[in-house]
Amino acid sequence: MFSRIVRPAASGLIRGLSTSAQNNARVAVLGASGGIGQPLSLLLKNSPLISNLSLYDIAHTPGVAADLSHIETRAKVTGYIGAEQLPESLKGADVVVIPAGVPRKPEACAKTCPEAMICVIANPVNSTIPITSEMFKKHGVYNPNHIFGVTTLDIVRANTFVAELKGLDPARVNVPVVGGHAGKTIIPLISQCTPKVEFPQDQLETLTVRIQEAGTEVVKAKAGAGSATLSMAYAGARFVFSLLDAMNGKEGVIECSFVRSEETECTYFSTPLLLGKNGIEKNLGLGKLSAFEEKLVGEAMGELKGSIKKGEDFAKNFKKTASINLLKCDTLEERSAVKRSVLFKMAAWYE
Ligand SMILES: NC(=O)c1ccc[n+]([C@@H]2O[C@H](COP(=O)([O-])OP(=O)(O)OC[C@H]3O[C@@H](n4cnc5c(N)ncnc54)[C@H](O)[C@@H]3O)[C@@H](O)[C@H]2O)c1
Repeated sequence: MFSRIVRPAASGLIRGLSTSAQNNARVAVLGASGGIGQPLSLLLKNSPLISNLSLYDIAHTPGVAADLSHIETRAKVTGYIGAEQLPESLKGADVVVIPAGVPRKPEACAKTCPEAMICVIANPVNSTIPITSEMFKKHGVYNPNHIFGVTTLDIVRANTFVAELKGLDPARVNVPVVGGHAGKTIIPLISQCTPKVEFPQDQLETLTVRIQEAGTEVVKAKAGAGSATLSMAYAGARFVFSLLDAMNGKEGVIECSFVRSEETECTYFSTPLLLGKNGIEKNLGLGKLSAFEEKLVGEAMGELKGSIKKGEDFAKNFKKTASINLLKCDTLEERSAVKRSVLFKMAAWYE
């Protein structure tokens, strides 16, 4: 029987970067010099799926790009630095990954090129995705199937912790994680784990809290010097490779992600998604929940709605700088001008 959740065998990552699959994806990383950005860019550089890797940051990108460019893989690496180089860094991007930002600060952020798939790592994801969506809407370029909040680290952690407890190979474990991407809005669906696993209720509760608070575990272990960067880079790369595989025509690629949703009363929600050539092909929904998981979903709603509203309000109050709407553009030049202004505007959120 087809399992609803299959562990994605993403070309270029699972497990050991040893695939011969190839395509010509152009990927841009915004915030490429940071704790996540650098190892993420390294993993992307190692992929045969990527022909062009564009690295943008407000600092250090020439060095990061020069360093990575010596690696004997096909992706051509180019570094861009400073706001004036941002539009160039996004030219022709198929996928934009955004780890720019300040760890653990509720800074709104996102920058984009309208046709690309946008993968937002920057926190708080529960608000940055509504912000990103509102900005795209304002400029008439919104496609909900293209905007993803990257929650993959929650799934990666859940797989690892379950495997540890049950003595399983983590590469064979798959726990869907739904809801949002902060504290109790992170809801691991252990009842849907493959292979099937069972825990006594007290252990299940401890495990759930560990998955929800795993970010804090890393922050504490790093003694306040940062948050998860290496595991996040892995998780971000896994998500991008799954997306590229699906865009490349591979069938049955499923990842959980925080997206525009009609699966619950929350307007944004993470559930397993079937990915395809145009981003989200089908939202696979919550599936059958245990009573415990239903309770967790119910308890998360208030916080999640609050964070979504915060993001939407932020976007609403954001001072409008772009005057033309993309839909009103007649020429390619006009479209490009609008795109550039949206990107600059979004870049300003990081400052
Ligand atoms: N989604 C997740 O699961 C997850 C996990 C861990 C961290 N995060 C988030 O990822 C973000 C990055 O974390 P980090 O540890 O890499 O932080 P970092 O401070 O090490 O790196 C951030 C990078 O962004 C750059 N930057 C800042 N403003 C910019 C701008 N306007 N344009 C371009 N680049 C800009 C900085 O120069 C820096 O290189 C944070 O928001 C963090 O909370 C998300």
